[in-house]
Amino acid sequence: MTDNPAHGAFDESAELRQLRDEAQSLRTELDETNQGVLALYAELDTQAEQLRQASDLKSRFLSYMSHEFRTPLGSILSIASLLDDELDGPLSPEQHKQVAFVSTAARELSDMVDDLLDLAKIEAGRISISPAWFDMLDLFSALRGMFRPIVDASAVDLIFEEPEGLPRLFTDDKKLAQILRNFISNSLKFTQRGEVRISASLEGEREIRFAVTDTGIGIPPELHGALFEDFIQVDSPLQKRLRGTGLGLSLCKRFAELLGGRVGLQSKPGVGSTFYVVIPLALAQEHGDES
Ligand SMILES: Nc1ncnc2c1ncn2[C@@H]1O[C@H](COP(=O)(O)OP(=O)(O)OP(=O)(O)O)[C@@H](O)[C@H]1O
Ligand SMILES: [Mg+2]
Repeated sequence: MTDNPAHGAFDESAELRQLRDEAQSLRTELDETNQGVLALYAELDTQAEQLRQASDLKSRFLSYMSHEFRTPLGSILSIASLLDDELDGPLSPEQHKQVAFVSTAARELSDMVDDLLDLAKIEAGRISISPAWFDMLDLFSALRGMFRPIVDASAVDLIFEEPEGLPRLFTDDKKLAQILRNFISNSLKFTQRGEVRISASLEGEREIRFAVTDTGIGIPPELHGALFEDFIQVDSPLQKRLRGTGLGLSLCKRFAELLGGRVGLQSKPGVGSTFYVVIPLALAQEHGDES
């Protein structure tokens, strides 16, 4: 069969034609796929835009709502404190107890509203970072003072390790304090005996790590990834007795990002947890000036 050259040529051109046809149909198919992909991209764009608008609306709603809540909550708190001080006449012990319930509930609601407002502000890109030079010793002593009433009433020790040989920081100390305050208050909430230890150490040459380590109930490994999301709480018997909204850690994460850093944790159920934040020693200035 193959020794007939004419037949061979015929064979070849038929084969070529077939290949060409196949190539052509592949090209047509590719073109169609391309168009499909383009259409999908366009649709994704529209959806992303819609999502952005929805998220904007949500942020705006949250900030208006939380803002409006603050005034009435403030008056509930001050009226409760007026009543408690017996400025308008004496209260019975039972009434004192009831007034205390009112102010505890109002304070919790007001903390939650503050957290929501912060989250909404971050989402709307409206939170401002004001870095300044400051000493960590001042930060630690402010935190120590803030937690003294809670620590005095509990069996857990709160230990601030002396920050040795660490430079001054140039960052937003209020945001950093807010992160550490959340970590410490969590640790105190979820630790029934032992200690909560706060330390600071250099991480490489340009960063500093703050760690809050407790000897508390710990967190199962499968939940470590989700914990920094909004409203995530671990289901435990202790949790049921405690208050909280599950926004603290997600705020910590966002504040850390605003400070150019990151958060993380190591934790073992029944042994304890370490929550840390690593941030640059000096926050880069937006216009590149270091002054
Ligand atoms: N040190 C810790 N030990 C054990 N569990 C923790 C610890 N820190 C956080 N968690 C778990 O992570 C959850 C989320 O913490 P987060 O601070 O976000 O919320 P919260 O403390 O419950 O409420 P909020 O901070 O908004 O008042 C907690 O409810 C708890 O289940
Ligand atoms: Mg918390």
